[in-house]
Amino acid sequence: MPCTLTPRTMHAVSTLEAGTVADAAVTPLDTVYLDGAFVSTQEARVSPRAHALSYGTGTFEGMRAIWNEDVQELLLLEPLAHYERMARSAAALGLALPHTPAELIEITIDLLRRNGARADTYVRPLLILGGDALQVRMDGISTRFSITLSPFPANYIATSGVRCLVSSWRRQRDDTLPIQAKVVGSYVGPALAKTEAVQAGFDEAIMLNAHGYVAEATTSNLFIRRGGAWITPAPSEDILEGITRREVIELVEEELGEHVMERSVNRTELYICDEALLCGTAVQVVPLLEVDRRSVGNGAAGERTLTLAAALLAISRRQDQRHPEWTVPVWNGK
Ligand SMILES: Cc1ncc(COP(=O)(O)O)c(C=O)c1O
Repeated sequence: MPCTLTPRTMHAVSTLEAGTVADAAVTPLDTVYLDGAFVSTQEARVSPRAHALSYGTGTFEGMRAIWNEDVQELLLLEPLAHYERMARSAAALGLALPHTPAELIEITIDLLRRNGARADTYVRPLLILGGDALQVRMDGISTRFSITLSPFPANYIATSGVRCLVSSWRRQRDDTLPIQAKVVGSYVGPALAKTEAVQAGFDEAIMLNAHGYVAEATTSNLFIRRGGAWITPAPSEDILEGITRREVIELVEEELGEHVMERSVNRTELYICDEALLCGTAVQVVPLLEVDRRSVGNGAAGERTLTLAAALLAISRRQDQRHPEWTVPVWNGK
């Protein structure tokens, strides 16, 4: 009997990237979008000879839709920014998305509605080299494009704060593969780093870049505050330029009246800073309590970080009227 992998199987992998131990707790929503059609998970098939399964050739996005119980609305957070980044990621790999970002937003809204999504939901668009091919090259191989949904796990990360290990696994250099492009295979490094951290009793891993400077955590960007100044590693430090990172830079100015400097961050600065946070679609904004068993500041969640986290959540739910351009309503009264 030929072996086929379904998106449910693929989801087990993507859910691990999102930080849960296994996908047992989150049953993916059944209807998926695959190559132009809405089909059930069981109908969506990928060949075990698909190029991406052997070589990790593809790119993905991770997006959040946030439920506002008060107004019974689901809000897609920054879908345009995510799909524009995906188009750039695809281009960096020499691939093309099958739709424009505007079309992809419409398809995502349709998919969420078809699945009756009325709770926090994780959206995973994925473009892979899906053709049967075992040569290590990327030209002339057909692509497959899917969007799948999962309920967002409530226990993804402790929102009260995380304890981090500086990983022995380094963030790859951008001259080894286009790491700004959310390449599927490039997540083996972060997965190893996260596993190392969790097995050593920590919540999350911080990865240094090839030059020994702080890059980011496994699926989130990092900010520190020292002597009244916020600092975050610059894009040249081999980070992924997170969409949440951009929002946090704006909110630090708007909410705190402070400024963010983009520069190299030394490992020691993690130990001597007054406050630190991680931010990303999955973690949103979360305080860093400890790094390598050393307290960050006084070891309690940073007050400013909690203010930023609350502001971002309120904006994401449209409970705060600022930045309506960051969210797109899914149900719109339907
Ligand atoms: C490696 C890495 N860094 C940072 C982030 C945070 O990016 P964003 O805020 O766009 O989710 C992610 C998540 O996509 C990531 O995978």
